[in-house]
Amino acid sequence: MKSDSKVKREFEGDLERKVKLVNKTLKEILSRKDLISKELREPVRYALTGPGKRIRPAIVLWCCEMVSGKINRDAQIAAAAIEMIHTYSLIHDDLPAMDDDDYRRGRLTCHKKFDEATAILTGDALLTLAFEVLAKEIKSPVMAARLVGELAEAAGPAGMVAGQMADLNYEKKDADEKMLRYIHTNKTAKMFRCAAVIGGMCGGANEKQLKRLREYGLKVGLGFQIADDILDVCGTSKQLGKTSGKDARQGKQTYPAVVGLEKSRELAGKLAYEAVAALKPFGEKAEALRQLAESLLNRTR
Ligand code: IPE
Ligand code: IPE
Ligand code: MG
Ligand code: MG
Ligand code: MG
Repeated sequence: MKSDSKVKREFEGDLERKVKLVNKTLKEILSRKDLISKELREPVRYALTGPGKRIRPAIVLWCCEMVSGKINRDAQIAAAAIEMIHTYSLIHDDLPAMDDDDYRRGRLTCHKKFDEATAILTGDALLTLAFEVLAKEIKSPVMAARLVGELAEAAGPAGMVAGQMADLNYEKKDADEKMLRYIHTNKTAKMFRCAAVIGGMCGGANEKQLKRLREYGLKVGLGFQIADDILDVCGTSKQLGKTSGKDARQGKQTYPAVVGLEKSRELAGKLAYEAVAALKPFGEKAEALRQLAESLLNRTR
């Protein structure tokens, strides 16, 4: 049997390879002059090449690999697409009209580096480009339509955008735990669910497998946002690459604020456990996704 530290090292190496592959695919897309006109090239590149953790696209690649034994071109494109949408959501999330943040991924936010109009348009560009690459680069039109549908549902007005709206509506207002779960599920967990599902789809997963992946993604995603809330309280700005301690100052409804730190940690642990349980039918092939769920509990950035 492998030791825990060996399993952990293997997982970290695997994640590093996934991040490299995602960055390579993004670079390829960025180099396409037909896709991005010159006035947008610099801000789009600035936003997309920042040192993000690339967790959502890594999930896409792992899910494809788990169900099919390998990563294919469709999964690479889908991974790049979800990272573009995530990056757009961060650019807009940081705008003065939303969370008003000056730092992201260890650098100035897009509107600070350029200006607000550029940041808004860079977000628009990334959101649209994600769907363009899916429509044009996914091999089969039927698969392209399925991926577009999943991603639009997760990112749109019954998903991430709805969660962001509720997040802002509840600033300085008391949310109960049910409302908080609604906000976090929509603004964050649905994109994680989508990552798992589109990865599975690219690998040819059947309905039964997709159901398991959906559950895994949603649980990991909710846990991820709870950890983000905890890190805002317990982490440093340097470590996070964004200003810590802001949620409380802005009157954000977060898990630590609503249920306390201890219960937040407990909940994140329970969600990781349930996420791992959802992968049971995949057996050993799910090792990386299991490791991921556990590693996100102890993340420091
Ligand atoms: C930040 O996401 C926003 C949340 C949904 C918590 P990440 O923590 O994945 O940010 P990057 O992509 O690594 O910068
Ligand atoms: C952001 O949540 C969620 C999305 C971008 C959809 P937060 O506002 O908590 O993310 P950070 O802390 O700014 O990264
Ligand atoms: Mg926000
Ligand atoms: Mg924010
Ligand atoms: Mg946060």
